[in-house]
Parts: sequence; C-alpha cells; structure tokens
Amino acid sequence: MAAIIYPVTPSFAAEIGDVDLSAPIEPADLAAIKEAFATYAVLIFPDQQLSQDQHLDFARHFGPLETTIGVYRRDAPLRVRKEFADVSNLTHDNEVWGKDSRLRLFQLGNRLWHTDSSFKRRPALASLLYARSIPPVGGHTEFADERAAYDALPEATKRRLDSLVAEHSIFTSRARLGFTNFTDEERRQMPPVPQVLVRTIPESGRKSLYLASHAGRIFGMPDAEGRALIDELVAHATQRQFVYTHRWRLRDLVIWDNRCTMHRGMEFDDLRWKRDMQRATVSDIANSCEQEGVVIEAA
Ligand code: OGA
Ligand code: MN
Repeated sequence: MAAIIYPVTPSFAAEIGDVDLSAPIEPADLAAIKEAFATYAVLIFPDQQLSQDQHLDFARHFGPLETTIGVYRRDAPLRVRKEFADVSNLTHDNEVWGKDSRLRLFQLGNRLWHTDSSFKRRPALASLLYARSIPPVGGHTEFADERAAYDALPEATKRRLDSLVAEHSIFTSRARLGFTNFTDEERRQMPPVPQVLVRTIPESGRKSLYLASHAGRIFGMPDAEGRALIDELVAHATQRQFVYTHRWRLRDLVIWDNRCTMHRGMEFDDLRWKRDMQRATVSDIANSCEQEGVVIEAA
C-alpha cells in the first residue's frame, strides 16, 4: 500500500501512514516522503517498530549521519549506538538521572528554542527522533516554522537580515541557562561557528530564518545589539501561529528539517518518569554561509 499523507497543520506538520519503516522502503514511498518533507518540514510516522539499525537505515536516506558524541556523555558507557544522540533522562544503567547531574543540566538546553547542531560548522540537515518510552504527562516537543516566520516579516526587515551572519556556539545556549562549567578542553573542541541568519531551502526554494539559542553575536554589530536582534527574531518566529506542538505517542518517529525549523522540549517530571528517545541526525551538505555564498572574514 502506498504511503499516505495526512496534514496536521496546513503547511508545517503532517502524519505519514501506510508505511513500515522497519522494512526496505519502496522508491515511490521514499519520493513521496521527501516531497512531503520539502512541503511540511515536520513529518510524523506513528506506531513504528524500529530497531536501532532500522532507525539508522531510514535516516541515511536523507544523507550522511552525524556521529560525534556529546561531551556530556563521553565519560560513561553509551545506552544507544554511537550514531545516536541519547535524548533520554536516563543514566547509562537506565536509571532516571539525579537532580544535580551534569547530564541533566546540559540537556536543559533542549528546553530553549534551537535547531540541532547549528553550533557545528556543518550543521544538521534533519533529525529523526524516536520515542522508546514516554511519560504519561508532559514532555511534548514544540516546533516553529521559520519559513512562515520569514514570510511574515516586513520587506525592509527581510532586506536587512538577508546579508547578516550570526556566531553560534553550544556554550552560548548553555550560558543562557547559567551553565558555564566547561573545561578549556571542552571549549577548544567546539569553537564558535558562523551561520547565515536567512537561508534558502533548495528543495522548496523557500526562504527561512535560521535561528537558535546557540546564536550569540552578529558579525559587524556591537555584541549587545546582535543579541537583542536575535532575541527579537526568536520571539517573532515562535509566535503561536508558527508553532506546532507534538504530543508524543509511544513509537512515534518524528523527522524535522533543521534548516528551517526550531524546536524545544517541554517540561515533564523528569525525576519521576522515564522519557527515552533516540535521535539520528543527518548532516547538512556544508556550512550555511558556504551554501549561501556568503564570505565571512575570521573575527
Ligand atoms: C532533540 C531535542 C527535544 C525533546 O532531540 O534534538 O531537542 O522534546 N529534543 O526531546
Ligand atoms: Mn534538539
């Protein structure tokens, strides 16, 4: 049976039915999924029974995978294969983390609006998050459509933003939470990177804001002015009309386009309930400045 697409919102999120991602995918289904991905940017595949290998195999249809393990997980055995980001509230022995654990403080960054890996020179193109265990209440994920947010800007603002470049760093988003306890070695491993503020998505031709809580200063602007502009744009881009809230069901696989969306995790009682999610992350083809042909001088 061919894959079928049910819009959840008119142009941002859709559910995909009649497709079993644990089996090799039919070319026609894959083409339909990719077309839907270009149109909607957030796709939900309900009730998928996926092994770790099957999850990774499906992700590879969208491009090469990111494999770097977060600094905060490096000191313990991994719960999931190294290709995944472990987005759970669990320690390596499957227990709920402690209130003051470093892991917990670090993952609090997921509660801020962001797009995945924009702090890497070559950021993430897509993320595929799979729900292995969900809490009975809370723990939703919100997504913001940054294409719609861009479209809604006044023309003069669009023109002003078009040529701007922001500096993204994982330590900027963590510092926003007051979490600054990183070693020099950790800081050296993840230096800040430039990313354009506005990008064009090749598959749809649509323009999009490219924002995240990882973004700090804007090149060519005083630090405070750049920060204020980023905060203002994030507030604009996350107004209710641009946001879809995903309420997880067990074994949902959700895939989003990191080039034109932001997301954030919502609160749940993480010291009581287990929330076990694994994320496969597909790399973008190049740094966003390179893709847009913007040359940024080293600062
Ligand atoms: C992620 C993320 C939020 C959530 O997986 O990249 O930010 O709700 N997740 O788990
Ligand atoms: Mn994320």
